[in-house]
Amino acid sequence: MNTIKIVFADDDSSARKLVLKLLSDLDFNVLIAENGVEAWKLLKASGARILVTDWEMPGLSGLDLCRKIRSESVDSYVYIILVAAKAKTEASIEGLKAGADDFLVKPLDVGELKARLRTGMRIIKLEDQYKKASVQLLHAEKMASVGQLAAGVAHEINNPAGFVSSNLKTLSGYQKDFMALIRIYKQFSEQVKPRLQMEKNDPAWDAYLEITTFEKDIDLDYLITDTEDLMKESSEGLERIKKIVSDLKDFAHPGEDTMQEADVNACIESTLNVIKNEIKYKAVVIKNFGELPPLVCYPQQLNQVFLNMVINSVHAMTVPMGEIVITTDVVPQGIRIRIKDNGSGIEKKNQSRIFDPFFTTKPVGKGTGLGMNVVYNIIKKHHGSIDLWSEAGLGTEFTIILPVSRDNGKADF
Ligand SMILES: Nc1ncnc2c1ncn2[C@@H]1O[C@H](COP(=O)(O)OP(=O)(O)OP(=O)(O)O)[C@@H](O)[C@H]1O
Ligand SMILES: [Mg+2]
Repeated sequence: MNTIKIVFADDDSSARKLVLKLLSDLDFNVLIAENGVEAWKLLKASGARILVTDWEMPGLSGLDLCRKIRSESVDSYVYIILVAAKAKTEASIEGLKAGADDFLVKPLDVGELKARLRTGMRIIKLEDQYKKASVQLLHAEKMASVGQLAAGVAHEINNPAGFVSSNLKTLSGYQKDFMALIRIYKQFSEQVKPRLQMEKNDPAWDAYLEITTFEKDIDLDYLITDTEDLMKESSEGLERIKKIVSDLKDFAHPGEDTMQEADVNACIESTLNVIKNEIKYKAVVIKNFGELPPLVCYPQQLNQVFLNMVINSVHAMTVPMGEIVITTDVVPQGIRIRIKDNGSGIEKKNQSRIFDPFFTTKPVGKGTGLGMNVVYNIIKKHHGSIDLWSEAGLGTEFTIILPVSRDNGKADF
């Protein structure tokens, strides 16, 4: 069924009737306009992709309409066929200059009109394919630069993290010595206190009082324990930074798109670490990782798969703390990865569409609808399969199977 909409504009009612009749056997959705202004409004409102317009019309002529369409931004390309009463080379040149794609002369011949419309449709299809391909390319480039950026950031953080870590180790050695010294001072002052108390005129007694008052003011006992805690926390924090940096490096695999052996569980783990903050307040992740054989794959791309899917699960959460269960195991066909969430679920009518490029249920500007398409393409590249179970209101489970070797799959990378 052809769903392309055509706007036909002519101020002559008999011409309009004729065209409706001529095109009735084609499954075009023909919208009729009685003048140029109406045609413009119809085009904008209906998203029609082909316009067949008479040249001579009151108000906005066919020629003006061509110019208006080309100068004002219309969402998608409109293929324009300009129809004139008389064949004149100068007229057709003028029409093409104004932005028309094709030129026809009255009286319209049904065969010719249909052939010209088919050409128009072919061009529109090519235009759409080109648009999709360029957006996909943009997405792929964006992902590649995210990878490069991540690798760059990881590298930059690594250097300061390295010297902070080594300084912290040295400091913690110094701190132990300082603490030991303070303890000795304290013991000493307790020992000399009775003697000093007897010699209250001795300036050492004043010094003793000053020291003990200051100890109280700064709450020395608290400072001693807190300093130890702070040093410990700082070291732990630094370990976390190092782990994130190493995960970022694993995630990014800078500049590399080669096949290599990878541990799928480790890929999932490093992806989860990278998006920890996105998940934190929305869901808990339960990991049921089975023992897996190494997989010859594109690890960076698999990371992308897990990232896109877990982020989708996070976005689907409707309760404050949802649950995402990731299970990995081995089945006869290969490594099986299941990602299950108790989010909004996917309506039946949308389930066959989620892998389509640009299919999204998210508001404009929130989702490009490319995430699952990327997932699908990567899984196919690995000769794997991806299946979906989902129930609106209950949640979604995706099952991915990746063949490990040529024997249990068709993996001929
Ligand atoms: N786990 C899920 N739960 C509910 N809906 C989902 C889930 N995963 C995918 N979807 C549905 O599939 C649609 C397409 O997902 P996809 O990841 O391709 O695009 P997106 O998330 O909308 O945008 P983006 O390209 O930014 O990822 C989503 O808009 C959503 O409606
Ligand atoms: Mg998505």
